[in-house]
Amino acid sequence: MKGSFPAVKLSDGVHWVGAIDWDRRLFDSLIPLPDGTSYNSYLVTGEKKVALIDAVDPAMLDVLMARLEDVPRLDYLVSQHVEQDHSGAIPAVLEKYPQAKLLCSAKAKGMLESHLHIAADRIRVVEDGEEVALGGKTLKFIYTPWVHWPETMVTYLKENKLLFSCDFFGSHIATSELCCQDRCRVYEAAKRYFAEIMMPFRHVIKDNLKKLEAYEIGVIAPSHGQVHQDPSFIIEAYREWVLAESKNLVALPYVSMHGSTRKMVDYLVDALSRRGVAVEQFSLPETDIGKLAMSLVDARTIVLGTPTVLAGPHPLAAYAAFLANALRPEVKFLSIIGSYGWGGKTVDVLAAMIPNLKVELIDPVLCTGMPGAAEFKALDALAAAIKKKHESVKQ
Ligand code: FEO
Repeated sequence: MKGSFPAVKLSDGVHWVGAIDWDRRLFDSLIPLPDGTSYNSYLVTGEKKVALIDAVDPAMLDVLMARLEDVPRLDYLVSQHVEQDHSGAIPAVLEKYPQAKLLCSAKAKGMLESHLHIAADRIRVVEDGEEVALGGKTLKFIYTPWVHWPETMVTYLKENKLLFSCDFFGSHIATSELCCQDRCRVYEAAKRYFAEIMMPFRHVIKDNLKKLEAYEIGVIAPSHGQVHQDPSFIIEAYREWVLAESKNLVALPYVSMHGSTRKMVDYLVDALSRRGVAVEQFSLPETDIGKLAMSLVDARTIVLGTPTVLAGPHPLAAYAAFLANALRPEVKFLSIIGSYGWGGKTVDVLAAMIPNLKVELIDPVLCTGMPGAAEFKALDALAAAIKKKHESVKQ
């Protein structure tokens, strides 16, 4: 491996020593990664000390170690977040550099001991706002909890005006270009990432964004995806996601067994569109749940389309309800449409699955078998009710 994986210079005294995971297609056995991902790790070299910011996923340990091959000394390893895609390689790095101290937030210490069995005497807790001098380079640690675990912090390299942000401002993209060139691509990937893991904590993230306003940030170097050389773009995107009011949009995840629910979905989508309400429709057996999660960042209403199976919702509809409940979007209204064969408690079961969503239920439209004129009339009434509800939300 030696020589195959050189460090890549990012700025004065800062090198990228991470790994690109081109082929990974699933994260946490849950989150689709259509564009792969990267685990960014950065080496900061001062006149007296050397620090490594974050490690990499254990699957990419060999790549990190190859990039560190010509680095004879490490004084500090900074763990900004304990999740294993940034910490899994820490034990091996500490073994390679026995004199190195592992710096982390107060909350992270016990987590590093339990998740990775790191000896307590290798760990030094840094306080919120504490600075560590490397000689001509100063690392300042800023606690940013719940992005997206409780222990998360970011690191500001004062002399370079560079913020190492770990998951914060990151995106799952595998690319050979270290710095962002295509904002549209990065916006989409970063929004997907925000939707999938950070949306439930947006109120705390809002406070973290406010806290970072005290710093002059010229570059943001996250631990996934590309580096932001114009950080205002990604900071503004985050502000939009955590602060903006929901949009005049319905997210419509659905599943159909014999086509009846699908007919209802098609009719409702058309009825909403005719009334000027935007809709995003997701066929649950095929859909990428990342796309559904992104829709929930903006949606004002969720309509779940489901047939009744064994007296309850189809399991895929239950999965969508469970996911929405976990992601806690800012959605305000919810309705359910679908077809049943002989009866059931679909609405009751789904309504009980979403206690985290502070939504108003708009009258569901359910029918036996194939929808007919009466059901289409009811779907028109549902579309009109959604339009009226959306207009009632103050902008
Ligand atoms: Fe990229 Fe929360 O780990």
